[in-house]
Amino acid sequence: MKTQVGIIGAGPAGLMLAHLLHRRGIESIVLEHRSRRDIEETIRAGVLEQGTVDLMQELGLADRLLAQGQPHHGFELRFGGVSHRVNMSELTGGKHVTVYAQHEVIKDLVGACERRGIPMYFEVSQVSLERVETDPVIRFVRCGDEAPSALHCDFIAGCDGFHGPSRQSIPSQLRTEYRKEYPIGWLGILTQAPPSNAELIYSGHERGFALISTRSPDIQRMYLQVDATDHIDGWSDERIWSELHARLEGTDGFRLTEGPIIQKNIVPMRSFVCDPMQYGRLFLAGDSAHIVPPTGAKGLNLAVSDARVLAEGMVHFYQTNSRALLEDYTDICLRRVWKAQRFSNLMTSMLHRFADHTDYDRKLQLAELGYLTSSSAGITTLAENYVGLPIEWGS
Ligand code: FAD
Ligand code: DHB
Repeated sequence: MKTQVGIIGAGPAGLMLAHLLHRRGIESIVLEHRSRRDIEETIRAGVLEQGTVDLMQELGLADRLLAQGQPHHGFELRFGGVSHRVNMSELTGGKHVTVYAQHEVIKDLVGACERRGIPMYFEVSQVSLERVETDPVIRFVRCGDEAPSALHCDFIAGCDGFHGPSRQSIPSQLRTEYRKEYPIGWLGILTQAPPSNAELIYSGHERGFALISTRSPDIQRMYLQVDATDHIDGWSDERIWSELHARLEGTDGFRLTEGPIIQKNIVPMRSFVCDPMQYGRLFLAGDSAHIVPPTGAKGLNLAVSDARVLAEGMVHFYQTNSRALLEDYTDICLRRVWKAQRFSNLMTSMLHRFADHTDYDRKLQLAELGYLTSSSAGITTLAENYVGLPIEWGS
């Protein structure tokens, strides 16, 4: 088997790359080790930056997103029992984010691959990368086959998430991995209830962080900070609601609306960056190269901007035979990635409670929140980071 770009992983990074390349006449094949149903049903992110939505629209992938996604022009930071609104649109010259579930994005991208004839193989196993410096080959076993297949390609795009094999193909002595592990996780729920608020609420409370988001007029998404070691079995529905009420309601009359919990799980929290994001003819994109804690809602959006930079580099290569833009891939991506790391770290550290926090640390958090929401410079910083910073092209 042969193609121009072998893409490992059918997440937002891999699927967006496949579409970006297809639009410019470049062939790719997507290899995914989970089933189509599994990737289309896994509940994850929900906030799409303006740039992500614009790109999906440009690629003709946004019909359902524009019909069902909810534009949000502001969000609330809640502390001391009171909400402080960040008016994103007013502070960023009219930009906004769109709340639309990641698994719906995946359904849209997979469906369009099928219609456009972009080949995808699901449930592949034993994926390995060879000769990534010179003439790359991806070996894998197709679902139902016993014998391995070989996919020869000009380039490999490692879009296989944090646990995938691609990153390990960059020799360890040539890569630096920057990491931060947090002693906390997020417990996420989906509940069948009407919205409690018109906009997202990020709450920094004495008892820990809580977040209210939404999916539709009937389904709401909420998150609670828990210990990294907590197991979901220790969190009954009653305990979840009691914590959400305690961390969100205050003296201003805000009330949370309950409903049956239809899904719940706990995800760990980490920060991670791999530098470089490329080696020879292998390029990492998305979570395979970097992870941010979810507090800034940046992970999916970074995956999409990596795909955009990589596609431009590949198009430039096929049009001019020059690798100049591809050589700048890591630098262009990491400029934006580190700024997203910075913002995600800020949001995480000022809104969560940590076991080693002293009264001093708590006072500092409140001062940070107070400053950012009351100064016009501070609140503009929050707004422009939340709607998404531009890609900084150039070496
Ligand atoms: P993934 O989505 O992880 O896709 C990688 C794919 O590769 C997977 O389908 C996997 O099955 C496949 N794969 C792995 N190994 C192999 C292999 N060996 N062979 C073949 N395929 C393989 N981001 C936001 O922007 N906004 C948010 O609001 C937001 N909220 C979040 C909330 C939560 C609770 C969580 C957990 C994450 C959130 N994120 C958010 C982050 C976002 O979900 C990820 O950053 C995003 O999925 C990264 O996309 P990706 O394509 O790089 O990786
Ligand atoms: C959602 C997820 C996030 O990480 C976030 O910061 C805001 C909203 C969500 O799933 O809706």
